[in-house]
Amino acid sequence: MKFFIDTANIEDIREANALGILAGVTTNPSLVAKEGVSFHERLKEITDEVDGSVSAEVISEDAEGMIQEGKELAAIAPNITVKVPMTMEGLKAVKAFSDLSIRTNVTLVFSANQALMAARAGASYVSPFLGRLDDIGHNGVELISQISEIFDLHAIDTEIIAASVRHPVHVTEAASHGAHIATVPFKVLNQIVQHPLTDQGIEKFLNDWNQQK
Ligand code: E4P
Repeated sequence: MKFFIDTANIEDIREANALGILAGVTTNPSLVAKEGVSFHERLKEITDEVDGSVSAEVISEDAEGMIQEGKELAAIAPNITVKVPMTMEGLKAVKAFSDLSIRTNVTLVFSANQALMAARAGASYVSPFLGRLDDIGHNGVELISQISEIFDLHAIDTEIIAASVRHPVHVTEAASHGAHIATVPFKVLNQIVQHPLTDQGIEKFLNDWNQQK
């Protein structure tokens, strides 16, 4: 499983990229709004920094508007992936983007049937939202498993991005249930690296080293 970072914050993206683990970036309108910057300028900065896929979401609700917006976003850099919501209009847009060889990430996926339909429309990625499903008492990770099984059974090459990741356990579970990618907030990347036994081990090694005669 690969790591994407789920943010529009350029410092966090640079920091994660320096770790050598970053295969891509996902943004959404809420994450961009939090930054208070021009969307297109920020996307340019991100695509200059990261070689992998950078998901940029359309705001329009009709296919025609999504296609127009998506074309403008895709013109920013070759590694832009147009993020499209899982709706009828969204699927029409995905089909149009697929015909234009523009990569797409179908977002706000909450069922296996939605994922299957998005894949058949030509989506490059589908994003099932783990945390938001868990929030309403459903099992997000089970959904990853189901989608993974269906895609394997039918030789579908659309990649599964585990999204709405809230903590390190989500990352482990996404990896072991067949997600190709987890898109992870910077805070969770940090949490993954931390371990009290690692800290204790470093302290002990340093103490022993400093006490040598
Ligand atoms: C990623 O593509 C999604 O936009 C993101 O993971 C949503 O996460 P949230 O449910 O924590 O807002």
